[in-house]
Amino acid sequence: KKKLKRKKVKELKIMSLQLVRSRLLTSSNVTPLGARAGSWWSGVEMGPPDPILGVTEAFKKDSNPAKMNLGVGAYRDDEGKPFVLPSVREAEKNILTSLMNREYAPIGGEADYGKLTANLAFGEGNSVVGEGRNVTVQCISGTGSLRVGANFLSKWFPGNKTIYLPKPSWGNHTPIFKHAGMEVAGYSYYDPKTCGLDFAAACADISKIPENSVILLHACAHNPTGVDPRPEQWKELSQLIKSRNLYVFFDMAYQGFASGDVDGDAFPIRQFLADGHNICLAQSYAKNMGLYGERAGAFTVVCKDKEEASRVNSQIKILIRPMYSNPPIHGARIVTEILSNPELKQKWLGDVKTMADRIITMRTKLRDGLTREGSTLNWQHITDQIGMFCFTGMKPDQVENIVKKHSVYLTKDGRISIAGISSKNVDYLAHAIHDVTK
Ligand code: LMR
Repeated sequence: KKKLKRKKVKELKIMSLQLVRSRLLTSSNVTPLGARAGSWWSGVEMGPPDPILGVTEAFKKDSNPAKMNLGVGAYRDDEGKPFVLPSVREAEKNILTSLMNREYAPIGGEADYGKLTANLAFGEGNSVVGEGRNVTVQCISGTGSLRVGANFLSKWFPGNKTIYLPKPSWGNHTPIFKHAGMEVAGYSYYDPKTCGLDFAAACADISKIPENSVILLHACAHNPTGVDPRPEQWKELSQLIKSRNLYVFFDMAYQGFASGDVDGDAFPIRQFLADGHNICLAQSYAKNMGLYGERAGAFTVVCKDKEEASRVNSQIKILIRPMYSNPPIHGARIVTEILSNPELKQKWLGDVKTMADRIITMRTKLRDGLTREGSTLNWQHITDQIGMFCFTGMKPDQVENIVKKHSVYLTKDGRISIAGISSKNVDYLAHAIHDVTK
């Protein structure tokens, strides 16, 4: 009897072991060795493609030989090829032959790079750099500079942690500031009726922004509209913003691209400093040096004095260190070589002018092409707007049509990158735009 009982217990044990084993086998997370791993990410939803970089992904899949990518703002030469600036090639050669080391840069990048970059924005001999009132850290191009800035404001800005962006603004601005924990709001800027600046509406909105908030201004070549205030309007904005006690965050990703002149394009920044604004600023060398992949940019905070600057600097370093420790060195060395070598700097300024001029020529050719096509619409804004982009005014269905029928790729808001047009395909584009807008 005892033997029988022991046998029953043993059988029950085996059964329960088998049950556990089969449960384990069917469970999604625990699999025996050699079986297919289960999923941890079944709850992850499919996200939409990036509104700007996603356009390039779609373009690459199109087999039409006449296709055009006017989505991302990346300069092309008149053959439609990526352009490496001759001054950049020369700087790179100099760096290679000087056999530099491969050590880590400091957390905020090299001091020379920071100084040259701040001087490029504020002008040679400016008092901010002279008095040591700026904190300028090398960051991962424009996006990274904005993000470090956003994180700094989110943690330390003493006022209302809401940033007011122009409507519309660069598509990445909102996620950059939101991911850093800031609230995002907007102020009127663009007038779809004139395809120009609605200055009165901008002033009306800005005068209602709660005091001690942050306002973002595109220093030049506004992205996506290509519409900038005139110098006298900048002066008015500076006074208005001062009277509202708003903190100014300038984004300058296109210095030199608006007019071909780096000093002319920095006018608003210098005007605001002269009016006593202690601004902060994001800069990028992606466009004006063609250093897209090198990710060379900078974030600057202009402080009250040197002592304040050293405290701010210490906190910015504390933010950067756990993100990426220190910035990449190669692009920064190219920038430093160009800006510190007077001969090379002259060459670079010539290269910037070449790029800006080609864009201006393409604007005229596109507008002429539309006239030749017989378009009766007013396309004056194509030549009035400046910088890399034209906000065409094309509606979403027209954008959809031009992609489908003509393989012309652009962002959904109707923005085209003029830098993607060449003498070879400008007429094709004029024809395509007329076809979907007539
Ligand atoms: C653009 O707006 O196309 C550029 O600033 C590139 C980018 O990263 O979006």
